[in-house]
Amino acid sequence: MEIPSVTLASGFSLPLVGLGTYDMLGMPCAHAVSHALGAGYRLLDTASRYSNERSVGMGIEESGIDRADVVVQTKLGGGDQGFDEAINAAKDSARRLGVAYLDVYLIHWPCPSLGKMVESWKALLTLAEEGFIRVPGVSNFKAHHLQALYDETGKWPELNQIQCSPALARDGLREFMQHNGIHAQAWHPTGRKEGMLADAVVIRLARKYGKSPTQIALRWSVQQGIGVVPKSAHKGRQLENADLFDFELTEADVTDLASLDRGEKAARDSDVEEEF
Ligand SMILES: NC(=O)c1ccc[n+]([C@@H]2O[C@H](COP(=O)([O-])OP(=O)(O)OC[C@H]3O[C@@H](n4cnc5c(N)ncnc54)[C@H](OP(=O)(O)O)[C@@H]3O)[C@@H](O)[C@H]2O)c1
Repeated sequence: MEIPSVTLASGFSLPLVGLGTYDMLGMPCAHAVSHALGAGYRLLDTASRYSNERSVGMGIEESGIDRADVVVQTKLGGGDQGFDEAINAAKDSARRLGVAYLDVYLIHWPCPSLGKMVESWKALLTLAEEGFIRVPGVSNFKAHHLQALYDETGKWPELNQIQCSPALARDGLREFMQHNGIHAQAWHPTGRKEGMLADAVVIRLARKYGKSPTQIALRWSVQQGIGVVPKSAHKGRQLENADLFDFELTEADVTDLASLDRGEKAARDSDVEEEF
């Protein structure tokens, strides 16, 4: 299975589909990661707060795939924000993952009440200069958080991982990101918590293309160049979630799916919600 990639602002090649790993722990997590890599996935998304970096690392080893061929993406927790803290946290994550460098390192949540997002961002830029991380990025950042990083450092993140699916299209934020060369990667890309997979439009399109409702949701993203990191512990579903590149939604389909968008207010509010 060949998964296409997008080229980030720096030229880094990032697969459009990766494996999410939230809620997977221990050996089942390692086996799921190993299976996904064996099936052709080359991007793994984890975070220090998922408490599974060790298992993800074991999965890479179990797969027998060369580490250099895997994009390892993890995140800085809110409790580790700050310049020195972020440097140390990145090294700790790499140690748990059993890798010598991180491909993508994201500030997990802006956590504005801490007032440390700029210091943390400077640490990620330093880590990138030193070659310890390949791609410095963020997650759950709104336009004004991104702007604050740019204003203080003159550098936009290359990537912002955001809650996004046809049910939460985030048009305004994505437009701002596109304008500034920031790649959008979607978390919870299947939109199942928003109940959209039972929507009549999604069911009709699934029948039309002989695909599952989940594949319709994921295709909506990748067709627009939005990366996705669906999580599945099941082998068959991992294959299904990457099998998105043999059909194309028409403009009319995309217009129909726009009716599902619940609007920006329905997304988790990273000015209010903070995860540590
Ligand atoms: N940056 C952030 O703040 C943030 C927040 C949340 C998540 N994330 C990342 O994004 C990843 C994905 O988000 P998510 O886990 O919330 O949502 P998701 O990937 O959209 O949905 C995962 C859920 O859907 C099920 N599922 C997946 N594919 C399926 C399929 N083809 N058919 C039926 N069920 C399917 C999974 O169950 P099974 O495992 O049983 O298949 C799991 O319960 C996470 O794992 C994590 O890596 C990041």
